Amino acid sequence: MVEFTLPRNSKVRKGIKHPTPEGATNTKTFNIYRFDPEDVKEDGTPNNPRLDTYEVDMDSCGPMVLDAIIKIKDQTDSTLTFRRSCREGICGSCAMNIDGTNTLACTKSIEECKGAVNIYPLPHMPVVKDLVPDLSNFYAQYESIQPWLQTQTPAPSNSERLQSPEDREKLDGLYECILCACCSTSCPSYWWNPERYLGPAVLLHAYRWIIDSRDEMTGERLDNLEDPFRLYRCHTIMNCAKTCPKGLNPGKAIAEIKKLMVERKF
Ligand code: SF4
Ligand code: SF4
Ligand code: FES
Repeated sequence: MVEFTLPRNSKVRKGIKHPTPEGATNTKTFNIYRFDPEDVKEDGTPNNPRLDTYEVDMDSCGPMVLDAIIKIKDQTDSTLTFRRSCREGICGSCAMNIDGTNTLACTKSIEECKGAVNIYPLPHMPVVKDLVPDLSNFYAQYESIQPWLQTQTPAPSNSERLQSPEDREKLDGLYECILCACCSTSCPSYWWNPERYLGPAVLLHAYRWIIDSRDEMTGERLDNLEDPFRLYRCHTIMNCAKTCPKGLNPGKAIAEIKKLMVERKF
């Protein structure tokens, strides 16, 4: 884990109000969460985060929330820190909480946000800096389900391991996950047990490998999930499906795993 990450529930202070860009007549307000681990108190512990306010000239800004954040960093405040890469809803790195919903900044339209836009990091995760959460635990959990094809029989000598179109179809709604963590960080069960419950994103991936017709470790994969916390903390609250920016349904995948757990006992 990164040193000096912010505790999950630190109180947010009033922040800096940055000046309106010169000559701008059509502006939108963005309130953005700021946390700097190097901004420390006398005792050496980090100061609480603050909420800074920026006015963005909408006449020279792209349509998405990420466009506005990039513009702020370029033109107003170069210290603002966030993750982004693809700008196309593919890499998952710009996941954050916008107006109370976990989503991707690059696919969230500014027009959809009524009034000032409030931007926070993904909730209930330690914060490295500003809008960057520490995803170390999330990735370690992902690794724990061994997210790759595992086989015991030798591969065919003259072809790849093939799959029927029907079996391939079973992966639809699963393979599209971009591991943005919007679902896991919206799940109350994950908030309370982030170290022990695997959470919706990781369980969706676990199911993706369990039902892959080419994988030969299904039993071991189910054994790995047979635990009161890793799988069974899901209480079907369904925040995960509601928030997923890719329209996936991790809660359903979790229910399917639970069904397989029951079926294999008979
Ligand atoms: S359905 Fe399960 S995983 Fe999804 S939000 Fe609810 S408790 Fe979390
Ligand atoms: S299921 Fe959806 S919200 Fe969850 S990590 Fe995958 S893409 Fe993101
Ligand atoms: S920048 Fe890649 S998903 Fe937003």
